[in-house]
Amino acid sequence: MAFPPSFLEELAVRNPIEEVVGQYVNLRRSGSNLFGLCPFHGEKTASFSVNPEKGIYYCFGCHKGGSVINFQMEIEGLSYPDAVRALAKRVGMEVPEDEQYQSRYRQQERLWALSKEAARFFNSQLYGPAGAEGLAYAQKRGMPKSTLTRFGIGFAPNSWSALCDAMLEKGYTEEELKQSGLASVSQKTGKIYDRFRNRLMFPIIDVRGNVIGFGGRVMDDSTPKYLNSPETIIFNKRKNLFALNLAKKSKLGYMILVEGYMDAVALHQYGFDCAVASLGTSLTEEHAALLSRYTEQVMLIYDGDEAGQNATKRAIPMLEKAGLQVKVLQMRDAKDPDEFLKKFGADRFRLLLEESSNRVEYQLRAIQKKYDLREDDQRIRFIDEAAEFISTLGNAVQREIYGSRVAEAAGITPESMQIEVKKAFKRRMAREKKKQERIDLSPASNLQPKDRHIRYDNIKSAMAEESLIAILLREPALLDCCGALSAQSFSSPMLGRVFEQLMANHAQGIPVSLTGLTDFSPEEMSHIALLLQRHDGPVSEQALSDCIRTISTEHQSQSAKSPQNNDDLLSLQKQLLARKGLKT
Ligand code: UTP
Ligand code: MN
Repeated sequence: MAFPPSFLEELAVRNPIEEVVGQYVNLRRSGSNLFGLCPFHGEKTASFSVNPEKGIYYCFGCHKGGSVINFQMEIEGLSYPDAVRALAKRVGMEVPEDEQYQSRYRQQERLWALSKEAARFFNSQLYGPAGAEGLAYAQKRGMPKSTLTRFGIGFAPNSWSALCDAMLEKGYTEEELKQSGLASVSQKTGKIYDRFRNRLMFPIIDVRGNVIGFGGRVMDDSTPKYLNSPETIIFNKRKNLFALNLAKKSKLGYMILVEGYMDAVALHQYGFDCAVASLGTSLTEEHAALLSRYTEQVMLIYDGDEAGQNATKRAIPMLEKAGLQVKVLQMRDAKDPDEFLKKFGADRFRLLLEESSNRVEYQLRAIQKKYDLREDDQRIRFIDEAAEFISTLGNAVQREIYGSRVAEAAGITPESMQIEVKKAFKRRMAREKKKQERIDLSPASNLQPKDRHIRYDNIKSAMAEESLIAILLREPALLDCCGALSAQSFSSPMLGRVFEQLMANHAQGIPVSLTGLTDFSPEEMSHIALLLQRHDGPVSEQALSDCIRTISTEHQSQSAKSPQNNDDLLSLQKQLLARKGLKT
C-alpha cells in the first residue's frame, strides 16, 4: 500500500536529512552543503554531500544519492516501507498503515487544495468590481501590482457567502470549508458563512508552497485590525512564518524577522527579500528551529514601542538557543520597517542595517569566542578560522582592516595575518575551482546518468530537462507555468516520468517534493539527487521558460536529427564553458 504524499512530506520535514545522516556521518558545513566521509564506500577525502535545503544527499565518489528515505534504506539495508517506518518511529510519528488513518492525510490534502483555490479567488476579486476598494487600499499602502502578485495578496468581498459559494461550486463541501477556517458557523441558524469579509487578504504559505491560512486586514480603524485563520489541521501559527516561502530563496545570507505582515511585504518590495514575520504570535521555539534550517544569522526588527522591546528581549535567547546569531536593529524615526521604508527609502534603511549590524565584526567576535587565546594551539586555530573567513570578504580594504584586528587579538603582526589570509584565499579558490570543474567542465559523457538504463539520447535537451525538474522541485508553484509540456516532450523517459508525477501531485493540491516521487529505482533517485545537487541556477519564470523552449525545440527537431551527434556535445560543452565564464 502506498503511503500518502502528505505523510511522506511530514516525515521528511520532521526528519531533516542533515540530522538523520548526522547520526552516521560526521558532517562539516561548506557553503550551503555539508560534507563528510561517504558511509557507502571507503574514502579519505570527503566527497559525500548533504544539502539540507534541497533535502538530498549525494556522493561525488560512488554516486549514491537521494532523499532522506533513500539514505535510510541504503544505510540500514531496509526496504522502502521499512525505511519509512524507521524514520516515523525515530520522531514518534504514527504510520498510516490503515485506511482510517490515511484519511487524515487525504483530508489535509483537500484543505491545501481548497486554501489554494481560495487564495486564487481572493486574488482575482482584487481586479473585479467587488474588489475596487481593496485595490485602492493596497495602492494607498504603496503596493504595486508586482507585490500583490508576488505575495498572492487578494481581497475578500463584502459578502457573507461569496467565497463559500465559489468553493462549493468547485466541489468543496461545507464541512471542508469549516475545517479550513474559511467559513464560520452561525450560532442561530447553523449555516456557514464567509469568515473573511471586506478585508485585504494575505495568504500564509509554508516552505513547501502550500497555502495554509490567511491574515485579513480591515481597511479602516475597526477591530480586529487583522483577522487570522484559526488553528486547523493544516495551520499552526507556532510553526510557520509569513513569507518564509520567499525568504528561504534569498541570497542575502541572513534573515530579517519582523512583527507585521506589512513590514515583511514592504521589505521584500524594497529589495530585502529575506524578511519573514511571525503570525501575530510571539516567537516560539519552533519558529527559531525553522529559521535555523535556512540561515545562521537573524536580524530582529521589532517595533520601537514597549511591547516590541519586550518581544525582542524574549526572542533573543530563543533564537540563540537554536544556534542562530542574533542582531537587533533599533527602529528609529518610524514606527516600523514598513513606515520607515516608505518615508526614507531603501538606501537609508540599508544604512540603518549596516550600522547596527556589522556582520563582519559580529562574525569575527563569534569565531573568537570559540577559542581560548591564551593557549598557543587554540590561537593558531583561531587565526586559521579567522583567515578563512576574512578571505571570503570581497573588498581588499576590509580584508586589511579586519586582518589587522585579528592579528592584534592573536598577538601576531598584521603582515603575517595578511599572508595567512592570502593562503586561505588560495585554498578556497582551489577548492571552489575543483568543485566547479567537477560539475561544469566534466566531459559531456559525465553528464550522463551513471546507470545505463537511464542514459540520455539527447544531452542538450536532457540538460534543459534536468534544469526544469530542479527548478520545479525548488519552486513547485512554477508548475502552473508548465501547461505546454507533457511527459512526451521529454527526451529522457525517466525525467518525463518525474515531470508527470510532479504535475499530477500538483494538480491534486498535493505538495511537490523529492519524497513525493515514489515510483523510482534507487539508481534513478541517485541521479535525481545529483541533478538537484548540481543545479544552482536561478529559480525563476525566465529560467523555466528557457528550459521549456529548449525542450520543445529539441523535441520538434528530434525526428530530423540523428540523436547523440558529436556536434551537439561540442556545442553543449562550449555553452557550459561560456556559462561558467559569465558566472565568474
Ligand atoms: P501591527 O499592528 O504592527 O501590524 O501588528 P502591521 O503589519 O504594522 O499593520 P499595518 O501596517 O497597520 O497594516 C503586527 C502583527 O500582529 C498581528 C499581525 O500579524 C500583524 O501583522 N496582528 C495585529 C493580529 O494578528 N491581529 C491584530 O488585530 C493586530
Ligand atoms: Mn505597520
